[in-house]
Amino acid sequence: MNPLRPPMMVANWKMHKTAAQAAAFFQALEQRLPASTNGCRIVVAPAFPSLPAAVEAARGRNIAIAGQNLHWESEGAFTGEVSGPMLAGAGCTYVIVGHSERRQYFGETDETVQRKVRAALAARLVPVVCVGETKVQREANEIELVLRYQFERAFWGMSAEDLGACVLAYEPVWAIGTGNVATPEIAEGAHRFLRRCALEIFGPDAAAALTILYGGSIKLGNEVPLLAQPDVDGGLVGSASLDPEVFASLVLAAAKAAKH
Ligand code: PGA
Repeated sequence: MNPLRPPMMVANWKMHKTAAQAAAFFQALEQRLPASTNGCRIVVAPAFPSLPAAVEAARGRNIAIAGQNLHWESEGAFTGEVSGPMLAGAGCTYVIVGHSERRQYFGETDETVQRKVRAALAARLVPVVCVGETKVQREANEIELVLRYQFERAFWGMSAEDLGACVLAYEPVWAIGTGNVATPEIAEGAHRFLRRCALEIFGPDAAAALTILYGGSIKLGNEVPLLAQPDVDGGLVGSASLDPEVFASLVLAAAKAAKH
């Protein structure tokens, strides 16, 4: 990890936890985290109906709350959708954009990802922008091609300042929810490549300041070597974030990795 970029751990709960379960999680998390987590930024992304309970429970605790998705328009006739201003109004400060499950099951494209990044920035939310190759693309040796394309499209026409207001997540699709975590070498290689893309498009300062999270089957036992990589600034954690004890341990591991 790099001292320029404080560590960050994001819990992506996906379609788990009711409002009551969300409140219980925060209570349990509080008991397991020391007062100081060494500057580790903690973000939790509950499902929409649990946002108010999460915002309430996280108040005064240095934990940011994220939406898992947003629409690119601020309002309109879009049944079932939620906008950036609505998330901000509910107390969110982050939003996940372009998760591979959205791309795979809900028709998210590089074009909609870009529109959502802009909408998030307009609503003063920090977009956590997800990119990553599928197993087929990896086997066809297209990793860099895919990552470069997704990165370029997501931030097309934006400024270095815009990028500075975003977080990037490398989430190899073959590693998400499969238990097949990327090796530290694979993760570092992809992160280094993405940082080079940022450098070529937005310049050295923007690249050096960009937080790049790794996501895909992080759990207790594989987190230490991943977080030790110089270009891995933290994690986007799915199933291992559902248990407050496990998530607290992952936060502490990220804080510890930052000190080295
Ligand atoms: P996982 O999910 O940790 O359950 O693999 C990660 C993610 O989808 O962000």
